[in-house]
Amino acid sequence: MFHSLAIVLSLLVNSVAGDVNFTYNGFRSANLSLDGLAEVTSNGLLKLTDDTLREKGHAFYSSPVKLKNSTNGTAFSFTTTFVFAILPQYPTSGGHGIAFVISPSRGLSGAVGLRFLGLFNESNNGKDTNHVVAVELDTVNNVDLGDIDDNHIGIDVNGLNSEVSHGAGYYVDSIGQFRNLTLMSGRLMLVWVEYNGLEKRMNVTLAPINVPKPKLPLLSLPKDLSPIVNDTVYLGFSASNGVTTSSHHYILGWSFMINGQAEELAISQLPKLPRRGPKQTSKFLTIGLPLISLTLIVATGSGVVYFIKRKRKFADVVEDWELEYGPQRFKYKDLYVATNGFKDKELLGSGGFGRVYRGTLPISKLEIAVKRVSHESRQGMKEFVAEIVSIGRLRHRNLVQLLGYCRRKEELLLVYAYMPNGSLDKYLHGQPKVTLNWTQRFKVIKGVASGLLYLHEEWEQVVIHRDVKASNVLLDSELNGRIGDFGLARLYDHGTDPQTTHVVGTVGYLAPEHTRTGKATTSTDVFAFGAFLLEVACLELTQTLKLGPNWMES
Ligand SMILES: *[C@@H]1O[C@H](CO)[C@@H](O)[C@H](O)[C@H]1NC(C)=O
Ligand SMILES: *[C@@H]1O[C@H](CO)[C@@H](O)[C@H](O)[C@H]1NC(C)=O
Ligand SMILES: *[C@@H]1O[C@H](CO)[C@@H](O)[C@H](O)[C@H]1NC(C)=O
Ligand SMILES: *[C@@H]1O[C@H](CO)[C@@H](O)[C@H](O)[C@H]1NC(C)=O
Ligand SMILES: *[C@@H]1O[C@H](CO)[C@@H](O)[C@H](O)[C@H]1NC(C)=O
Ligand SMILES: *[C@@H]1O[C@H](CO)[C@@H](O)[C@H](O)[C@H]1NC(C)=O
Ligand SMILES: *[C@@H]1O[C@H](CO)[C@@H](O)[C@H](O)[C@H]1NC(C)=O
Ligand SMILES: *[C@@H]1O[C@H](CO)[C@@H](O)[C@H](O)[C@H]1NC(C)=O
Repeated sequence: MFHSLAIVLSLLVNSVAGDVNFTYNGFRSANLSLDGLAEVTSNGLLKLTDDTLREKGHAFYSSPVKLKNSTNGTAFSFTTTFVFAILPQYPTSGGHGIAFVISPSRGLSGAVGLRFLGLFNESNNGKDTNHVVAVELDTVNNVDLGDIDDNHIGIDVNGLNSEVSHGAGYYVDSIGQFRNLTLMSGRLMLVWVEYNGLEKRMNVTLAPINVPKPKLPLLSLPKDLSPIVNDTVYLGFSASNGVTTSSHHYILGWSFMINGQAEELAISQLPKLPRRGPKQTSKFLTIGLPLISLTLIVATGSGVVYFIKRKRKFADVVEDWELEYGPQRFKYKDLYVATNGFKDKELLGSGGFGRVYRGTLPISKLEIAVKRVSHESRQGMKEFVAEIVSIGRLRHRNLVQLLGYCRRKEELLLVYAYMPNGSLDKYLHGQPKVTLNWTQRFKVIKGVASGLLYLHEEWEQVVIHRDVKASNVLLDSELNGRIGDFGLARLYDHGTDPQTTHVVGTVGYLAPEHTRTGKATTSTDVFAFGAFLLEVACLELTQTLKLGPNWMES
């Protein structure tokens, strides 16, 4: 009976007294005692906390460890190495952090989470009776606990007000330069904790997983642990979450040894860190995907709007009855391009019936003059366009060729051959500083007469121009007079009586009987021609009289 008890006791003492030496590359086969949120995942990760707020998690090496020489009460030297990762809920704010802890008990009874990292509580924080030594990886700045920032490492003795602390980082061996590290970056990092019982000094070193242990430690605290720690202690980790923010706190591997160098962890054997759970993917789903969709919708929308706008901008009105006029219909877009978008620079002139622009057709390079006439009523449009098209078939060397037309919603565009020398009235009113001599004037008059004769007598229908005047006579490159602007012209069959219409034309050129009867006839054209004749004959020569365009009336 006593004998067996003695064996059990000696076994217990041996297991405790023997130099503890363990290595965990992943915790699948480890005997840990867990509490709070802590769990070992199926692939061997020690997950100290999930996203539960205000909570803590503990994981302790199950067996007690003898840390002091019971003969003379001196703490042994020890070394430990662990790999951790902190995956915060939000990139810049997460839980409170992780602590490596040497504790007299497995439970850390009475300890709370939040800023106490699961190590202490409000009333026992800082008390010598705690017999706790910890290394904190602190990711929240608690000024009341003496924190230096929200990303530091500290050595804590019996309380969270660190004996020594430093911003997370490491000294690069070759140059001794300090490199910052972000604890909450989710990167794997290694921590070495070394205590020398002879020197009575504790060193803590931090480095990214791919960097060998830096020679210069991050923290070096001269401290005799002998009066602090109990003979037998429990070794483990603690982590806690905040009131509003949390992190997944992970330990991936851990080695420890008393009176010797803890084994190096085999990085390749460490369990894989999960992505930051559904949050990571949901971030794509909640932010990325809607953003992409929105971008797509906006892009498509603006594309459609642009297309519609463009379509509307260049929309012509084409009706079935117009289809036969195909060759004489111009596309608005072509005219738009030809005239540089109807720029003022291309403006040849503007009058009561519209503005005239110069242009060059895109493919044929034909020089044109485009007259834009606004039309509100659709009434008579069919007839009007039919007449325009008929006039387009007129061919005479003293007529300005009407090339075609284009119809838009509230606009009609008439396309003429371009006359490089412009309209006659400019010469008569001395705008180009050239005046025409008698021979030239006579040639112009003969030409206009010849053109008018063709319109009235020689073509298959009678064409009444209705607006013969100097500004509607254009000069070609050889200064031949050509009748242009057929915007008011009317066609009749030979031998029929002209219909009464609105009186149109230009004051000064209107025949008296035209205003009386409302009928435009060949004779009214000839009356206007007479006025034109006088104008050509007299103007510029009679400059001193200062005759205006309405000189006939005066
Ligand atoms: C520590 O334990 C590991 C096995 O876990 C063993 O390989 C190693 O040799 C031990 N180290 C010492 C110094 O006993
Ligand atoms: C784990 O440790 C506890 C406490 O030391 C012990 O009771 C238990 O038997 C151990 N389990 C294994 C599988 O080693
Ligand atoms: C403890 O200390 C005593 C006296 O200094 C020494 O003889 C003994 O070997 C030590 N025990 C251990 C386990 O180091
Ligand atoms: C205790 O024993 C160790 C040897 O195990 C020795 O190094 C140390 O100096 C001793 N401490 C005291 C206070 O005698
Ligand atoms: C704090 O923890 C101690 C044990 O370490 C416990 O006795 C005490 O009741 C706790 N205090 C509070 C306020 O929880
Ligand atoms: C490193 O961190 C400290 C404290 O946060 C900061 O003052 C310093 O500018 C950082 N250095 C670099 C190189 O980022
Ligand atoms: C701690 O680091 C210092 C250098 O800062 C070194 O001299 C000392 O030996 C180290 N102690 C241990 C226990 O590694
Ligand atoms: C730790 O040591 C102190 C003093 O040496 C003692 O009061 C306390 O009960 C010990 N704690 C445990 C859990 O053994």
